[in-house]
Amino acid sequence: MNLILLLSISFLYFFSVNCVQTAYKFVHEHCEIPYFNESLVDLPLKTCYKPTRTGLALNLTLKFHVDIPSDDVAYVEIVGYQFRSNEYRKGPIEAMLGMCSFIQTEKFDMPHMLSNSNFTACPLKKSNTYYIRNLVPDAENFPPGIPDGRWMLELKFMYREIYYMFGVRWFAKVEYEMVF
Ligand SMILES: *[C@@H]1O[C@H](CO)[C@@H](O)[C@H](O)[C@H]1NC(C)=O
Ligand SMILES: *[C@@H]1O[C@H](CO)[C@@H](O)[C@H](O)[C@H]1NC(C)=O
Ligand SMILES: *[C@@H]1O[C@H](CO)[C@@H](O)[C@H](O)[C@H]1NC(C)=O
Repeated sequence: MNLILLLSISFLYFFSVNCVQTAYKFVHEHCEIPYFNESLVDLPLKTCYKPTRTGLALNLTLKFHVDIPSDDVAYVEIVGYQFRSNEYRKGPIEAMLGMCSFIQTEKFDMPHMLSNSNFTACPLKKSNTYYIRNLVPDAENFPPGIPDGRWMLELKFMYREIYYMFGVRWFAKVEYEMVF
């Protein structure tokens, strides 16, 4: 069974869109891995780098110390924070879904983001190595209507409901094309 817990109605909308949007673009700022629990996972490679002057990409190598056969064992918490009044505040994007569903979804730009990866299907096995290379979120595959401004998208990978396994934070500006 796929565990999909909807925390907010906007998430439904967020994931239901499959079309290409061109109204805004991302101006990538930086990304970081704020935390990992080394008794659950090793991250021998975790590099955020600039492949071009304006680009930003993430390389990650994961080695789990636990088995993740299905969504029942691990999930991903996704929270969008918008920069307002000098700090990142929770915006309209908030969701939780099973880790297996997350990496296997056809939506949310996932196939493109994981096109250079073998972190793409469950079961995820203890001691196996999974790599993700050159991961870049492409604004065209994101839903229309995200308010402009500076955003931080935080993904928390959780194990057995309570353990924070590792996290990824992505900082980018959402910029709309000028209409003259
Ligand atoms: C890391 O995960 C283990 C479970 O394997 C847990 O016992 C421990 O409390 C976690 N550490 C932190 C800091 O959450
Ligand atoms: C993923 O690719 C790495 C590097 O090629 C390889 O060592 C690893 O076994 C692969 N993992 C799986 C689960 O296929
Ligand atoms: C990230 O991975 C790509 C593709 O394998 C590689 O070309 C690039 O040099 C790597 N960059 C870093 C900083 O590890």
